[in-house]
Amino acid sequence: MAHKIAPSILAADFSNLQSACDIIENSSADWYHIDVMDGVFVPNISFGMPVIKAIKPLSTKPFDVHLMIVDPDRYINDFKAVGADILTVHYEACNHLHRTLQAIKAEGMKAGVALNPHTSVSVLEDVIKDIDLVCLMSVNPGFGGQSFIEQTYDKVLKLKRMIKESGATTLIEIDGGVTSANAKRLTDAGADVLVAGSFVFKSSDPKNTCNELKDLVS
Ligand code: DX5
Ligand code: ZN
Repeated sequence: MAHKIAPSILAADFSNLQSACDIIENSSADWYHIDVMDGVFVPNISFGMPVIKAIKPLSTKPFDVHLMIVDPDRYINDFKAVGADILTVHYEACNHLHRTLQAIKAEGMKAGVALNPHTSVSVLEDVIKDIDLVCLMSVNPGFGGQSFIEQTYDKVLKLKRMIKESGATTLIEIDGGVTSANAKRLTDAGADVLVAGSFVFKSSDPKNTCNELKDLVS
C-alpha cells in the first residue's frame, strides 16, 4: 500500500503560504496537514478559518485539518465551509465523541480522532468503526519541532490489531517528530499516513525532502 505523506504547514513560512502550497502541490505529498490551535486545549495559538479559506484556491490536494481546540462541535460546519476534507478532533476535547463523529460525516467530511500521548488507544474500541482516521500524537500537541515519543510504535501495533479485529477500515496517522529516521519503522508497524512539519519545511529543499520521505515508505 502506498503510504501517505501530509506536510504540516505549521512549520512553513507564514509570510509566504503560497510557496508552502507550491511545495505540497508539486511534490509527492498526498495531503495538507493543517493545525488549528486555540490557546486553551493546547498552550499555543496558530491560525483559523480565514487562513484555511485563503489557501484553499491554491490547492488541489485534500485538507487534513487537525483541531486542537476545546468543544470542536461549535465549528464543524465552518471548517467544512472553508475547505476541510478530513476533520480531526481530539478525544480529550469531546464529551460526546460519537455524536461529534456523526456531525462531521453529516457535513460530508471524513472524521478523524486524535489521541494525546498519554491516552490509550483502547478508549476507541467501541467507536473504531465510526472513525475514518486515528491520529496518534507522537509529541504533546501544541508545537512543531519536538522529539518523537518512542512509545508510539507500540500504540501503532495495538491500534492496527484493534482495527483489523473489528473489520474497520480506519487509517492510522502519526503526528509529531516524524523524520526519515523513524518513518519506515512507523509504516512497518502499521501507520498509513505520516505528518511531517519541521522535517519538510525547515529543510533546505522541502520539495525534495518530501519526495524522499514518500519514497522511503512507498
Ligand atoms: C503538533 C502538531 C503537528 C506539528 C508537527 O501539535 O499537531 O502537526 O505541526 O510538527 P513536527 O513534524 O515539526 O513535529
Ligand atoms: Zn497536527
